Amino acid sequence: RTALPVDQLGRPLHDLRISVMDRCNFRCPYCMPESTYGEHFTFLRNDERLSFDEMERLCRLAATLGVSKLRLTGGEPLLRPHLTDLVARLRRLEGINDLALTTNGVLLARHASELRDAGLDRVTVSLDTLDPALFHRMSGNRGALDDVLAGIEAAQAAGFPHGVKLNTVVQRGVNEHTVIDLVERFRGSGVVVRFIEYMDVGNRNDWRPAAVVPSAELVERIHAQWPMRALPPKYAGEVATRYRFEDGAGEIGMISSISQPFCGGCSRARLSSEGMLYTCLFATRGTDLRHSLRDGTSDQALTELLRDVWLRRRDRYSEERAEHHGKAPRKIEMHYIGG
Ligand code: GTP
Ligand code: 5AD
Ligand code: SF4
Ligand code: SF4
Repeated sequence: RTALPVDQLGRPLHDLRISVMDRCNFRCPYCMPESTYGEHFTFLRNDERLSFDEMERLCRLAATLGVSKLRLTGGEPLLRPHLTDLVARLRRLEGINDLALTTNGVLLARHASELRDAGLDRVTVSLDTLDPALFHRMSGNRGALDDVLAGIEAAQAAGFPHGVKLNTVVQRGVNEHTVIDLVERFRGSGVVVRFIEYMDVGNRNDWRPAAVVPSAELVERIHAQWPMRALPPKYAGEVATRYRFEDGAGEIGMISSISQPFCGGCSRARLSSEGMLYTCLFATRGTDLRHSLRDGTSDQALTELLRDVWLRRRDRYSEERAEHHGKAPRKIEMHYIGG
């Protein structure tokens, strides 16, 4: 067997994130604004999305190139019918030691225990505020906060082996005032809250540098209330910087993709629901794997294709952001690639 591939910047491939569904039941203005994703927007047809057989095959081959961590995303992954079956199939793959799901949580109460039984290791729920009215508005008038909270509770009760996390995107002047409530509510619960700096993903959000609340500012505000200490990374290139509360009430994370980019250790590849492979969240071009999956290409040739894409990779968008001066080329959309 040949050596595992590293890219042009020496980074291995560890992580594969798969968007299993381009649709979402929310219309968050920063991701799928109603003005673009209204009733006339054309989503993929069922036969344009990769089948479970196709996803399983790609994951099996990716595992031979070093992938050990899989994350299912969307859109909203729980809108994909029979997602539990996919989880059970991916669970059985050799070499996969972390199988995760990122969801908006609305359908989670209904599915948490079956997902755990199918072998899902952990769940990350997106939750930007605990203010019900603001939550409703931030979901594009689609979501109810109580449904998401019920989903989080169901996930805690189900007992995922690698736990439950929350992702909170913080926007200046929008939800920055609810950060303290979120910390207060989940401190000591075992649920790890991670605050994410608002990013310029896709082309449809009205991102401006002034909309970002730098993590350092949040750390200072939280620390003033509940003293905490930074923890060393669990692995090289960890996305979140972790902080532990000095009183023992658990930890939080800061994902500082704007103020402290982490491209240097980025070992993530992303697969869209229609089978395009991207080597960066901010990629402008991808590689069509669906075509190869459906034209009789052998496992060996498909593996070589994956290896080639990784060997050629040089993405480091977050580190180059400043150089684009807000005029970056057209990027893929978040709902299509799943964050
Ligand atoms: P762990 O849970 O700590 O293993 O990290 P993870 O990367 O699997 O977590 P998750 O997928 O929940 O990432 C949280 C958020 O961080 C994502 O939704 C993105 O907003 C952001 N993020 C994750 N990966 C990347 C990345 O490669 N580049 C950038 N710029 N942001 C990322
Ligand atoms: N900046 C940062 N995070 C974002 N997400 C969606 N859009 C953005 C953005 N512009 C987050 C979601 C979810 C994850 C998949 O990505 O809130 O937690
Ligand atoms: Fe909101 Fe996530 Fe749906 Fe995008 S994919 S609209 S961020 S819930
Ligand atoms: Fe990885 Fe691209 Fe994010 Fe940098 S910007 S961490 S290369 S996905």
